[in-house]
Amino acid sequence: MEQKRSIAIDGPSGAGKSTLAKRLAEQLGFRYVDTGAIYRTVGLAVQRHGLDPTDGAAVGALLQDIDVSISYDDTGLQRMALQGEDVTAAIRMNEISAYASKVSALPAVRDFLLDTQRDMARRHDVVMDGRDIGTVVLPDADVKIYLTAAAEARAKRRYLELIQRGQQADLDTILREVIDRDRRDMEREIAPLRQAEDAVLVDTTEMDLEQSFQAMLHLIQEKLGVK
Ligand code: DC
Repeated sequence: MEQKRSIAIDGPSGAGKSTLAKRLAEQLGFRYVDTGAIYRTVGLAVQRHGLDPTDGAAVGALLQDIDVSISYDDTGLQRMALQGEDVTAAIRMNEISAYASKVSALPAVRDFLLDTQRDMARRHDVVMDGRDIGTVVLPDADVKIYLTAAAEARAKRRYLELIQRGQQADLDTILREVIDRDRRDMEREIAPLRQAEDAVLVDTTEMDLEQSFQAMLHLIQEKLGVK
């Protein structure tokens, strides 16, 4: 089988990873893999079962019983299913973000999802985004980008996104949640969020989406030697 190419994009929540990774994948003709959505699906399962997301034994036992699957629709968009039910929209609820962040600190959950992610990169050219793609999941990725922005800028983007979707939102609460989640994602013992040594840092605090997209595309094309 020919060698597949992989682009790893890591960074904190709200830096624009998924929007940018999706557009980059489209432009390059690669498959976009949103790994946060996979953790969110496990988080949703834990919430639905009324479990404590920090209880490793209970969550570990639940993993044996649940079916988490990924598929792609005609437009190349990733869809998540839990027990065969499409949960692509349900996993975006604000409450599920904290569940996802908490279950993602459990070794059993990370082990459970590792193969699924690597398998995707073995079979397809991918743009994969997450927290530990360049450091753990795909240490040999062709291009690694660490995408970040100031917490205030990320909270504001999230706030506007929720308002636009007609959901209730409070900027101060969201900023607190962003900071809490950053801390949890960066301070956990396994696969913490950090920039891989060979990753290029892209800070989008002062950049709009288009500028960020162009900067990343340029970088990727240069590294892959394509135009
Ligand atoms: O990117 P996101 O906000 O949808 O991710 C949800 C949570 O999942 C996030 O708090 C951290 C976790 N996550 C992770 O630990 N590793 C990944 N590769 C992707 C997400």
